Amino acid sequence: MTDARDRIEVLHGVNLNLLGERDELHYGTLTLGDLEVQIAAWAAELDLRASFFQTNAESEYVERLHSLRGQVAAVILNPGAWTHYAYAIHDALELTGLPAVEVHLSDVQSREPWRRLSVIGDLCLATFSGKGPEGYRLALARLREALDDAGP
Ligand code: DQA
Repeated sequence: MTDARDRIEVLHGVNLNLLGERDELHYGTLTLGDLEVQIAAWAAELDLRASFFQTNAESEYVERLHSLRGQVAAVILNPGAWTHYAYAIHDALELTGLPAVEVHLSDVQSREPWRRLSVIGDLCLATFSGKGPEGYRLALARLREALDDAGP
């Protein structure tokens, strides 16, 4: 398990594969590939290794969470629209028992009312929303802190 101790999986949910084509005002201009390169570099600065997963199928997102048990030290989730109603993702995240941080590129609190609810927020150490890619850097820093506090 030595391997898992510095590994953080970043799970992108539905529609995030189309970053770069989505509303620039909310999501900026980076593609998902660009974003992942940036996140991997930020992770390395913190002595973490980032791995990535994206799917548009909720069942695959749930199964990926199941498969991460014991394989990574922590997770960063941006489930996209699933955030607001997919209780199966809440339960799968809970089953992992992993430290988690929620990230949204856009400011979900200042958009449509239905975006204000997060079904995973109660399981997360922190939520970063409306900070664009920077939210992922903050999430990595928060998890670095949590892993350091938990000890070797
Ligand atoms: C999002 C916000 C969600 O409300 C939306 O459905 C997304 C992306 C974000 O990163 O801002 O697809 O999670």
